[in-house]
Amino acid sequence: MEKTLQYEGKAKKIYSISGKPDLYIQEFKDDATAFNGLKKDKISNKGIMNTEITTLIFNHLIANGIPTHFVEKISDNEMIVKKVDIIKVEVVCRNIAAGSLVKKFGFKEGFVLKHPIVEYYLKSDELGDPLFNEEHIYALGLANSEELNFIKSLTLKINELLKKYFAERKIRLVDFKLEFGKDVNGNIILADEISPDTCRFWDSETNEKMDKDRFRFDLGKVEDAYLEIRNRLSK
Ligand code: TMP
Ligand code: ASP
Repeated sequence: MEKTLQYEGKAKKIYSISGKPDLYIQEFKDDATAFNGLKKDKISNKGIMNTEITTLIFNHLIANGIPTHFVEKISDNEMIVKKVDIIKVEVVCRNIAAGSLVKKFGFKEGFVLKHPIVEYYLKSDELGDPLFNEEHIYALGLANSEELNFIKSLTLKINELLKKYFAERKIRLVDFKLEFGKDVNGNIILADEISPDTCRFWDSETNEKMDKDRFRFDLGKVEDAYLEIRNRLSK
């Protein structure tokens, strides 16, 4: 299979495949960044862990009727995905206050939200992914109201499925980030990854952090956290 690099992000590489115009290879790297690239390092085996974790989660979502770009895992750190045009909106869904909700809005960390919050961030490394709203999205022409309503309802459905899936594995799903894309037929499908890089996971009993916050805030045992999430999901 001959592959050509199309795009390199902070944690993944995307390749086209000769003779397969509708598919891409998504490769997961060990590189980790935080605070819009200010902090940089490698987390050993992160690429392998995030490939496995994303595969398990996307398979669960597909089995429950969520349209995604996932096709199949082809090596330790690569998967075949459907080719999409990424919609430049990062969709964050929150169940428990943490991260920027605490820093920007003064929520108390750990406060269980009365209702999930869905937020939109402009996907732009240059601008540092600023928080924005529906009006900005329509004004920029990133999505129309029908598309954004579909993205929001899919996000809330994914939240319900994943809250239950993680609770059964003694993990609290605090918050997570999703990206959507348009496939070659123009349908909106879930893309990117779902992993400890893009979610906050807390142990149900101890509230211990089991995600990239261990890297962001130098909490130690970063590799162990990714491994533990992989192990709990593989059972
Ligand atoms: P935040 O509380 O820092 O805004 O993060 C919310 C969620 O989004 C958290 O699960 C981590 C994830 N996230 C990303 O996947 N990429 C990012 O660039 C940021 C800032 C957060
Ligand atoms: N992914 C972002 C970065 O690279 C931010 C984060 O995850 O904290 O810097």
